[in-house]
Amino acid sequence: MDKKIKIMTVFGTRPEGIKMAPLIKELERESDNFITKNIITAQHREMLDQVLQTFDIKPDYDLDIMKKSQTLSSITTKVITELDQIFIDEKPDLVLVHGDTTTTFAAAISAFYNQISIGHVEAGLRTWNKYSPYPEEMNREMVDDLTDLYFAPTKKNFENLLKENKDEKKIFITGNTGIDALKYTVNDNFDSSEFKEIDFSKKIILLTAHRRENQGQKMEDMFKAILDVIQTDNNLELVYPVHRSPAVQKAANDVFAGSKQVKLINPLDVVHFHNLIKRSFIVLSDSGGVQEEAPALNKPVLVLRDTTERPEAVQTGAIKLVGTNPLVIKENLSSLISNSDEYQKMAKAKNPYGDGNASVRISEAIKYHFGILKDRPIDFV
Ligand code: UD1
Ligand code: UDP
Repeated sequence: MDKKIKIMTVFGTRPEGIKMAPLIKELERESDNFITKNIITAQHREMLDQVLQTFDIKPDYDLDIMKKSQTLSSITTKVITELDQIFIDEKPDLVLVHGDTTTTFAAAISAFYNQISIGHVEAGLRTWNKYSPYPEEMNREMVDDLTDLYFAPTKKNFENLLKENKDEKKIFITGNTGIDALKYTVNDNFDSSEFKEIDFSKKIILLTAHRRENQGQKMEDMFKAILDVIQTDNNLELVYPVHRSPAVQKAANDVFAGSKQVKLINPLDVVHFHNLIKRSFIVLSDSGGVQEEAPALNKPVLVLRDTTERPEAVQTGAIKLVGTNPLVIKENLSSLISNSDEYQKMAKAKNPYGDGNASVRISEAIKYHFGILKDRPIDFV
């Protein structure tokens, strides 16, 4: 192929930004082969801007769609409508989307309507449960029905795609680009004035929680269970960078405000957050990305969800699915705090999600697909 390949990335939320950033950097390094243009929907505003600043990414297009307490339908319709004209004008050879958000789904359908090839980064994750996580499971299933090039982080994700009769030749096992991001962020002696509220002489329990299917009473009950355990031991401190979703802010404030052993802080930029994982004792999370990052930093994660699309780390023992039942959360958290054998086993378990080279593999897979490279890249194992 003589002409350069025009690639447009589309992303909108914090996790998509963090996991697309290392890939964007890699595509930009390959400027002899690729013209890269980046579109942000800004489904998240402040939380995405933090990521753009950290990685010094200047978007070519900013749809700026975020509204307070936005609905799934409003995000979907705005993204599809706005992307249409951009795709008509730019005519990219490939659109890259990431993961399973509503931006991801809307961007994929818009690319399909314009008959543009779609590359799905983080393809093939499944719970096979329509409403858990909601709406992410259906977003990623629908995107994979539209996808032309699949970048599956693990062998398990590859197998999931084969079960759906996807073309084996179009699937590349790459590792997760979220693990690549750690190379940009983690630093052995990291400290910051932003951590001044946190008492590192105590054992830090780091919490993140935001899932739509947990919001409301369920989330408050989970938080109360966690607070009960924290209050049994003065040497524990709970740190929670609270997601900007109004529903999450309400639950966090209603349950935790006023407790001396809890630090509610603003969402951290990813450099601070990754280094805070590193300085924590245990991570509690319903997040997708955190289930991958914490094992790579040797920190046990109790996953506050009823299902996970990341069974690999459950199998290696690095994360444990404890669900949303308050009694089960209490039991598991207390046990992990007090039982050092159990703790060490989790902390030392293998990270199955990547070796930091996922972005290079994706870039090579694209070059192979467009005939620039003769050989298929070697899969991540
Ligand atoms: C979205 C994704 C979810 C992903 C999560 C990562 C969908 C449907 N959900 O969920 O898959 O795990 O992002 O965090 O795509 N807000 C702000 N500022 C921000 C970000 C959010 O004020 O920077 C507030 C707004 O009021 C917004 C609300 O949070 O309406 C919810 O944001 P939204 O993107 O709809 O859902 P998330 O729960 O963040
Ligand atoms: N994260 C961050 N700052 C925070 C909390 C999380 O940068 O205060 C990062 C985290 O390291 C991970 C990503 O945000 O890379 C996870 O995002 P989130 O939990 O919002 O979404 P999910 O992964 O569940 O889709």
